[in-house]
Amino acid sequence: MATEDGESKLLEEPLFILENGEVYRNPTEIKMSQIVMPCHANHCGELSVGQLLKWMDSTACLAAERHAGCSCVTASVDDIHFEHTISVGQVVHIKAKVNRAFTSSMEVGIVVSCEDLFSDHQQCKVCHAFATFVARRTEAGKVQLKQVIPHTQSEQLEYSLAAERRRMRLIHAETITDLLSSSSSQSVSASEQHQDGVPAERTRVESVELVLPPHANHQVSTFGGQIMAWMENVATISASRLCNAHPTLRTIDMFHFRGPSHIGDRLVLKAIVNNAFKKSMEVGVCAEAYQGGEPLRHINSAFMTFEVLDHDKKPRTLPHIRPEPVDGKRRFQEAIARKKIRLDRKYIISCKQTEVPLSVPWEPSNQMYLSYNNVSALKLLSAHVNWVLTSEKNKVSLYTLEENQKLCFKVEMHVNVPAEQVFVLLSDLTRRKEWDGHYEECEVIVQADEDDTIYRVVTPSVRKGGKDQEFIMLASRRRPCDSSEPYMIALRSVTLPTHPPNQDINRGEVLCAGFSIWEESDSLTKISYYNQATPGVLQYISTDIAGLSSRFYSSFSSCSVFLEKNRDSLSSHSPSDL
Ligand code: COA
Ligand code: ADP
Repeated sequence: MATEDGESKLLEEPLFILENGEVYRNPTEIKMSQIVMPCHANHCGELSVGQLLKWMDSTACLAAERHAGCSCVTASVDDIHFEHTISVGQVVHIKAKVNRAFTSSMEVGIVVSCEDLFSDHQQCKVCHAFATFVARRTEAGKVQLKQVIPHTQSEQLEYSLAAERRRMRLIHAETITDLLSSSSSQSVSASEQHQDGVPAERTRVESVELVLPPHANHQVSTFGGQIMAWMENVATISASRLCNAHPTLRTIDMFHFRGPSHIGDRLVLKAIVNNAFKKSMEVGVCAEAYQGGEPLRHINSAFMTFEVLDHDKKPRTLPHIRPEPVDGKRRFQEAIARKKIRLDRKYIISCKQTEVPLSVPWEPSNQMYLSYNNVSALKLLSAHVNWVLTSEKNKVSLYTLEENQKLCFKVEMHVNVPAEQVFVLLSDLTRRKEWDGHYEECEVIVQADEDDTIYRVVTPSVRKGGKDQEFIMLASRRRPCDSSEPYMIALRSVTLPTHPPNQDINRGEVLCAGFSIWEESDSLTKISYYNQATPGVLQYISTDIAGLSSRFYSSFSSCSVFLEKNRDSLSSHSPSDL
């Protein structure tokens, strides 16, 4: 899939050779290559993003249908960030494969690259995307898809991360609505209104399209990619009206198709510039459908960010916008909130794992991304295969891994306690002091939601007479979606304005730590504890790693005693109580 470090140059995945000597290829993988012709391009000779979206959607749909064995529709597409434009004469390569199937829906990963046939043939990454496709209901009801079986390490990782992305997708609309309702309650200040700005109504576009057979599949449903292309068309007209120049589409926010559209529908597309920031603008587009005298059906709303590039490909300063009264002012304010959300997302999710700052400020607006980052970082760490066994005592094993000049360690053991019980006991960090001598104090400071809690933990100094250390940690817990996955409890440091660092105590940082808990049988559970050691943590474990002590063993054997002692203590609680 997409390169993990976000580099533009594409890195090829290592080949995976099957037992019969053949090179493994994902059975759902579909590839499409297209030479960009003038008919696919805008007046500047660049491939229109609408055309690219159509190709991406059809490639992804074919991958989904190959897995499902039946007709599928596009339900949603996650945020897409376009890194490059593509010129006439270049070749576009699109690769799509199903990362994971849930019940009737599937996540399809799409990666787009471009190649210049007349230079060095090197492929440049253009964008990657994750789309959700849903198998069309049959008369018997909802389709139950077969599971995807990952074969390679990267397939396993994408499979695991797909569950985390799905979680974020399904809460996305609700989270955004909550954030926007709090933002629009703030009135637009006079200074923000820019009385000298371009009146927003000048950028308003309304256009209609008749859905004809070439726009639909054999089931007469309009292709999602076609609707996206029409939306991009009106958004581009709207953006051009603000700047009287050619705009370049940079990002499309996550969106979903609320209901189907069919041949014969009239699609009404409306767009307007919601806000212009210094170097970028947000255009909102709404797509509605009707047939005959029926009322309009809301099909989709999308928010696109455009820039205007000068001759050096640098974004130009844009004119201000003067919003229309009422709705315009609300959208102006909401666009500011969405910009902040986009920045949070870019800062927390899209940057290289090695560049994620140690302690990110936690806020309700970035909670969804921090929680995703927390769990996916632990999934990435646990997916490594090159752990080296450093020490072992009575079946408690200590492993180490050096990665990006960081030392990571893992402690592994088995307990005769059901996995669900282990998960419940270990995910309540306030109980950790019952088995971990390092946990002097632990209190809940924010209960963000039922799976995310922020704790303040105090540990003693390793040096005699030294100051204690405190950690402000976000704990994100996840139950497995299926039996091939572990329970997970991910931990990372965050900062909170209510708990600033102070001189009486050292502030320690945890970049990525936590437990994965595997159900081996009804009563036998494997526990792996991971930690990407920061200086604050390393001091507690360095003698163990050097083989000079086995304190890890005493902590984890106390953990085992604690779990066995409490194995029946929570049996009256159902998982939903927690
Ligand atoms: N993002 C991702 N997946 C979503 C989603 C979203 N915003 N909303 C629903 N889903 C998933 C559900 O999680 C569920 O997956 P699962 O079966 O694996 O658990 C699946 O869609 C079906 O959900 P369900 O609750 O049974 O149906 P629904 O009433 O929510 O309908 C769609 C979901 C996608 C089928 C419906 O909104 C639709 O028909 N949209 C139009 C699709 C279309 O025609 N696209 C082409 C262009 S118009
Ligand atoms: P909202 O109106 O709450 O912003 P919608 O889903 O109705 O949400 O619309 C999404 C976006 O589509 C709006 O933010 C706006 O940019 C654009 N839009 C909606 N209605 C119109 C319209 N009548 N004319 C032009 N653009 C519109």
